[in-house]
Amino acid sequence: MKGIILHGGQGTRLRPLTYAGPKQLIPIANKPVSQYVLEDLISLGIKEVAIVLGETFPELVREYYGDGSRFGVKITYINQGRALGIAHAVSLCKDFVAEDDFVVYLGDNIFQHGIAKYASSFVNGRLDSMILLKEVEEPQRFGVAKLDGNGKLLRLVEKPKEYVSNFAVVGVYFFSPSFFRIVGKLKPSWRNELEITDAIQLMTDDGYKVGYSLVDGWWADTGKKNDILALNATILDERIQSRIDGKTLNSRIEGRVRIGEGTIIENSTVRGPAIIGGNTRVINSHIGPYTSIGDSCIITRSSIEYSIIMDNTSIEEILNLEESLVGRNAKIKSNSNAKKSLKLHVSDYSEVEV
Ligand code: G1P
Repeated sequence: MKGIILHGGQGTRLRPLTYAGPKQLIPIANKPVSQYVLEDLISLGIKEVAIVLGETFPELVREYYGDGSRFGVKITYINQGRALGIAHAVSLCKDFVAEDDFVVYLGDNIFQHGIAKYASSFVNGRLDSMILLKEVEEPQRFGVAKLDGNGKLLRLVEKPKEYVSNFAVVGVYFFSPSFFRIVGKLKPSWRNELEITDAIQLMTDDGYKVGYSLVDGWWADTGKKNDILALNATILDERIQSRIDGKTLNSRIEGRVRIGEGTIIENSTVRGPAIIGGNTRVINSHIGPYTSIGDSCIITRSSIEYSIIMDNTSIEEILNLEESLVGRNAKIKSNSNAKKSLKLHVSDYSEVEV
């Protein structure tokens, strides 16, 4: 089986951060969202992965993943350019896929237990396509599937305006190469995209074997600031083990905390679950819980909770920073002693003085 990671899209709901990079490179517990995707594909035994790039900083994606050897896979890059839909992105991968089965994984989706179990059902069921469904509260935000009383897949509707069902089609799709026999018949939708849901509907109509599995455990699609912070908290909670490679001086470390090499924590408290990258300095501050601080940051006389602070950023004298998403190379500082809580969503190279 081969893997395809979709790394395009404009990330409009994550502006201003997506003015500085693609949403899939936003770090969750100090690791880009799309790296969780890549690692999940690798855990299936996949050796060849195509990353489909969009218009938002494709060069940063190439720079981060390179040829894949750092991760033990071979990565091929395919340029989609304008976001013309998931089915369009996949149609560009025909030569890459050749005669293999493949899985398409949206680069901003994360699953609590990964997708290995579903990959086996797809292979064992000898299907032409398999989708994954999850019951959600806001089905209008997704593609949805209508099932009959016996659980048979009846139809798929993208972003339903009227209620169809609560079963969202999540962002992982398994296919045999027969996908490429139907994709040419697709017409653009009202949002001018070749929809993956329409492609799967066409496969069903043309008599191909299409199945589904229900996702157990949580599934996250990181579309908005609050989704990102909540996912960061969950991943820190479920996956961070204590490990201190840096130095702590006159400080208190409580709960599960990971501190990277070259980092110095001085006269501070860090309350887990939390992660602090390498070569960062935390002085006279309070960090956590549910907080990720990147590499090479400087945090002085500040208190930060339930937030993500990306690499090379400095935070100075901010007494109550919470629920914040702060980009790379930013400078946040205060000249007052205001204790009022501060909730920020700022992009790379921003300078904020409060
Ligand atoms: C896309 C798909 C939709 C699916 C969703 C899952 O939506 O078109 O069917 O439910 O991903 O994340 P989009 O991200 O384009 O809004």
